[in-house]
Amino acid sequence: MDAIECILSRKSVREFSNKEISEQDLKTVLTAGMSGPSALNMRPFEFIVTRNKEQLEKIYTENGIYYAPIQQANVGIIVCGDSDKAYLAKDGYWLIDSSIAAQNIILAANALGIGSVWLGAYPEKQKCLSLQKILSLSSHVIPVAVIALGYPLDDKREIRDLYEEEKIHRDTW
Ligand SMILES: Cc1cc2nc3c(=O)[nH]c(=O)nc-3n(C[C@H](O)[C@H](O)[C@H](O)COP(=O)(O)O)c2cc1C
Repeated sequence: MDAIECILSRKSVREFSNKEISEQDLKTVLTAGMSGPSALNMRPFEFIVTRNKEQLEKIYTENGIYYAPIQQANVGIIVCGDSDKAYLAKDGYWLIDSSIAAQNIILAANALGIGSVWLGAYPEKQKCLSLQKILSLSSHVIPVAVIALGYPLDDKREIRDLYEEEKIHRDTW
């Protein structure tokens, strides 16, 4: 699969089979997460990786129905931004840098045939506090996305054309 095919065929997957993701594929996905750009190359992203079913269940029960896919996930990756490690002169880069990491994880997973969905954490205060507690995070380590990963139950991958001409503004708005 080439890069364009990988980007255009990505979609959120919320139902997973119980096939295991290998440690080798997991490392590839995590390496992709660490391979994006970051402001001043500060690399403030941190990843909590868990296959622990009880922990995945707890993340679901404490965060409600929108987190349902994490229950079935083979692996959960909680992408966090360490606000103490980011480019401090400008508030907010930790979030941008960590979001890029999350998207790289999702795309690398797709390239390997692994489905995923981004479950939102930041800027929802309650979710951030709950995740910080469950995962024993310091207050400066802020959860940005909970990524549920697993092999899709329905393996229908197709290229989608989501181009919208009206979103393109040439030269000026
Ligand atoms: C910041 C963010 C938060 C999201 N939160 C959730 C969530 O809590 N639960 C969920 O099932 N999907 C969540 N999604 C996935 C979106 O619902 C999904 O990307 C969108 O509906 C478009 O569908 P697609 O990913 O298949 O293109 C989130 C996506 C983003 C980028």
